[in-house]
Amino acid sequence: MNALPTVLPGHLSQVRLPIRQLLPQLSLWRRHLHQRPELGFQETLTADFIHTKLTEWQIPHTTGIAQTGIVAILKGDRPGPTLAIRADMDALPIQEANDVPYRSLHDGKMHACGHDGHVAIALGTAYHLSQTSFPGTVKFIFQPAEEGPGGAAPMIEAGVLANPDVDAIVGLHLWNQLPLGTVGVREGALMAAVETFHCTIQGKGGHGAIPQQTIDSIVVTAQIITALQTIVARNIDPIESAVVTVGKLTAGTAVNVIADSASFSGTVRYFNHKYKDYFKQRIEQVIAGLCQSHGATYSFDYQVYYPPLINDSRMAALVRQVAESVVESPLGVTPQCQTMGGEDMAFFLQKVPGCYFFLGSANADRGLAYPHHHPRFDFDETALALGVELFVRSVEGFATYSV
Ligand code: NI
Repeated sequence: MNALPTVLPGHLSQVRLPIRQLLPQLSLWRRHLHQRPELGFQETLTADFIHTKLTEWQIPHTTGIAQTGIVAILKGDRPGPTLAIRADMDALPIQEANDVPYRSLHDGKMHACGHDGHVAIALGTAYHLSQTSFPGTVKFIFQPAEEGPGGAAPMIEAGVLANPDVDAIVGLHLWNQLPLGTVGVREGALMAAVETFHCTIQGKGGHGAIPQQTIDSIVVTAQIITALQTIVARNIDPIESAVVTVGKLTAGTAVNVIADSASFSGTVRYFNHKYKDYFKQRIEQVIAGLCQSHGATYSFDYQVYYPPLINDSRMAALVRQVAESVVESPLGVTPQCQTMGGEDMAFFLQKVPGCYFFLGSANADRGLAYPHHHPRFDFDETALALGVELFVRSVEGFATYSV
């Protein structure tokens, strides 16, 4: 696990030589970033590193967008459309449990989702393209705070999709749900909307043996939580996918006391835009109805974070075509990669057509198969070179594809 990745012909035979030769560099950049994980909107060391590299390669760029974001613009030597490549930069508040020479130097913080690799891949793509001939313009968007509170929306507000106007956008996530040598790509919904709710039920406390004088907030809450399960089961089209999860419940102080109030919180996920606003209304209806029937009152707070991530069908077809020319694994390119996880890349895809895809990065033989957000997450860095090749071919392909 400690050695720099060696070139595995089985995985990189379709990767052009200069990109294969870049792999040790990609790995070093990734490890430099891995040792210096930073949380959302605090990615100053990460931004400095990107700025230093882009300056060294004389690639024009602007720093400080949406606090720590960076946009670089690389013009090709032939006219063509503008393709944006997006890489998220932030890490997670997790204590790394890996014992590797490049483990996190920042206590309690860790690149446990692979965003260090995303930055390395985008940098490698910028470097390679700066040394070669390509059509059109590529705009590199280094985005802060994907893990929260979200850097995509403020970057769009800051105008990163204009000057020059972005015609389409691509992005990838290193993905330990897929083995190295595979790519997950599909048109339409890839990832889900992310919404959350918080509710407090106010009853009337009292003695556990004298319930007739109380309004038991725990009994009301238990009925509400059970009833919420019927939203997906009975209200949503069975052909669609959705999740309502109550992940937190707080109530009560003693076995013989009826709780005055109870609180619960949860998350909602769905793929179809048509359910925007639906869950907020339906969840509150359930809460209000059951509270009324028991004489309780409630407070309800609902937050909408990320919309569903929807890939454009033409851009997904382009990426699929590119991926099929790059990966050699018998598993190859798969559309079986939908997840109810969320991603704020979704905001970019609401504005311009594009494709977000998963790049397989697990290698169980090397012990690199822990899931994302796990304290022992790590990935096979061979995927870094595949990522650069996929982006470079997407740039080349997009120029002819969009004509
Ligand atoms: Ni991630």
